[in-house]
Amino acid sequence: MNSDQLKQQVAQAALAHIEAYNFKVDLGVGTGSTVNLLIDLLPQVRHRIGAIVSSSEASTKRLEALEFKVQELNQTGDLTLYIDGADECDAHNRLTKGGGGALTREKIIAAASKKFICIIDHSKQVDILGKFPLPIEVLPMARSYVARQMVKLGGQPIYREGFVTDNGNQIIDIHNLKILDPIELENKINQIPGVVTNGLFAQRKADLVLIANQQGEVTEQ
Ligand code: 5RP
Repeated sequence: MNSDQLKQQVAQAALAHIEAYNFKVDLGVGTGSTVNLLIDLLPQVRHRIGAIVSSSEASTKRLEALEFKVQELNQTGDLTLYIDGADECDAHNRLTKGGGGALTREKIIAAASKKFICIIDHSKQVDILGKFPLPIEVLPMARSYVARQMVKLGGQPIYREGFVTDNGNQIIDIHNLKILDPIELENKINQIPGVVTNGLFAQRKADLVLIANQQGEVTEQ
């Protein structure tokens, strides 16, 4: 199966996890090509969905096109379930996210959700996080300063030129990191002045990861 077919399989599998609740779930919706496929399937479980909160303007637009009313997290309070993709996932369900630049809102929604299900295909599985460049959202005036601090931490920062986040900030992608202690690095980077957040989801990792293997079978981790 090709990558799109694998994403379709895992999106379909996530739907069953929404359906399994015997009440209306307040749902957080992530961002990216895998989640887009999930969004397209959500009308099938409309009866199981209470409030919906989205992690990006792109996901909001897609949800609204399907006549879902997207609410603010400030209105809903904590959510039942958050479903999102990832760029990398290790054996402990710790993730690298933010390839699509929505990492800050994703991290807020993940933190505010009782359960976080991550949906990936097998190509995202890694032994050690860091092969995929680690995104950091920064306040624009702090970009070069944060980049210099990341060089001291052993990374090679590349400015994501021309990209502005939904929060009006910028992204630097940190290459060549071998992340042996994701929680420690997540905390360290977040303490650098000017950092809004970084794409490590180690403190609030996924509770469950659904993985589409090469044959398109979905396993749980
Ligand atoms: C966006 C993300 C996405 O979840 C991540 O980039 C994976 O995207 P895709 O499903 O397109 O591979 O973190 O900020």
